[in-house]
Amino acid sequence: MDHFQIRNGILHAEDVALPVIAEEVGTPVYVYSRATLVRHARVFRDALSGLKNPHIAFAVKANPNLAVLRVLAKEGYGADVVSGGELIRALAAGMKPEDIVFSGVGKTHAELQQGLEEGIGQFNIESEEEGYELASIARRFGKTAACALRVNPDVDARTHEKISTGKRENKFGVPLDRAAEIYASLSQEDGLDMRGIAVHIGSQLGDLEPLETAFGKLGELIAQLRETGCKVSHVDLGGGLGVPYKTGEELPAPAEYGAMIERVTKDWDVQLMFEPGRVIAGNAGVLLTRVIRVKRGIERPFVVVDAAMNDLARPAMYGAWHDFEAVQPTGEKSVSHIVGPICETGDTFAMDRECDTLVAGDLAVFRTAGAYGATMASSYNSRGFVAEVLVDGDQYAVVADRIPAGAIMDAERVPAWLDD
Ligand code: LLP
Repeated sequence: MDHFQIRNGILHAEDVALPVIAEEVGTPVYVYSRATLVRHARVFRDALSGLKNPHIAFAVKANPNLAVLRVLAKEGYGADVVSGGELIRALAAGMKPEDIVFSGVGKTHAELQQGLEEGIGQFNIESEEEGYELASIARRFGKTAACALRVNPDVDARTHEKISTGKRENKFGVPLDRAAEIYASLSQEDGLDMRGIAVHIGSQLGDLEPLETAFGKLGELIAQLRETGCKVSHVDLGGGLGVPYKTGEELPAPAEYGAMIERVTKDWDVQLMFEPGRVIAGNAGVLLTRVIRVKRGIERPFVVVDAAMNDLARPAMYGAWHDFEAVQPTGEKSVSHIVGPICETGDTFAMDRECDTLVAGDLAVFRTAGAYGATMASSYNSRGFVAEVLVDGDQYAVVADRIPAGAIMDAERVPAWLDD
């Protein structure tokens, strides 16, 4: 359930009519709903209420906007970060260092050091090489890094191949059959407190079965590690729960996910950790756009909107579906192609889409744009970065300024010697 609803014929974000935002902030613009973020954060937490003291770290990559992170910090969420940049955002938003988990296959020396200096709660180590490097930095600083070893369980998550992370050929984690040996070896390192294992098999999972298979393999690994005298007190089960992008699409509910986890992990005797991203933020945001013009096509019209693949990359990148709806629907429907202004065919949001009939100047939204939306933007075609707005009841605020193309150009230089 989200708080983007039609009222008096106009799509609202909570109590704010979207045309008001379009008028005052311009388009394209991402609009987030605080009430929806809070609702999703609570639904997810409630789904895990049968577990003992679960740790929930929002995957910052899904939506790193400071205001969004602040909303989640106030809900008691920690952060799962994958770069020094995400780490400073999480801290700036008020997330406690000890509630921050640092994931990622390519943490640099500087990032490992930054995590140690900030006193983050856990490093999810993705290779033995990273583990030894972190140990040596920790020793140099006289610190101990709490660590989980990310395991690659070789499970097909049955999602888009570009967002599948748990197959043996994927770059993530250490192979399951070497995990015990690597864990034991890292446990010997001064500077590391090897306290658990981590897994994340992919994103937008429409089926709980691959997760259950992966978690089952973790259960066996925990037993194996303990048999050899290793300590396992924490297990990070990652994120991955999918959200409906299409009206009517059915996905596993957080409650079913929670029940499955309770069942599979009942004998583990560990603190469980989670890294949800999309399930919290996805349906809490829309991309509000204006129709530039409707171009006659051979078979269908092209609805050319002012948002493009640089603003919302998912359709171009993964062939992803985002529901597209008029802000002031007339009830008339037609079939068209929805495209942006960028000069490549990939800048197509939808082909042959049946949706509200639109004319030049009309406002429309791409739904489910609150996760992996603004954060994946680029400035391709020298378009700027779009603004972001957070709505809370009848108030709203610009939580990220539009960065115009000129401001991006200001960071560039033409060396004088080019003109010699
Ligand atoms: N933990 C780790 C280690 C991850 O790699 C990810 C996502 C998450 C947690 C959060 O997963 P979620 O709960 O959001 O599914 N840009 C793609 C999604 C990439 C996801 C990458 N990792 C998209 O737009 O679909």
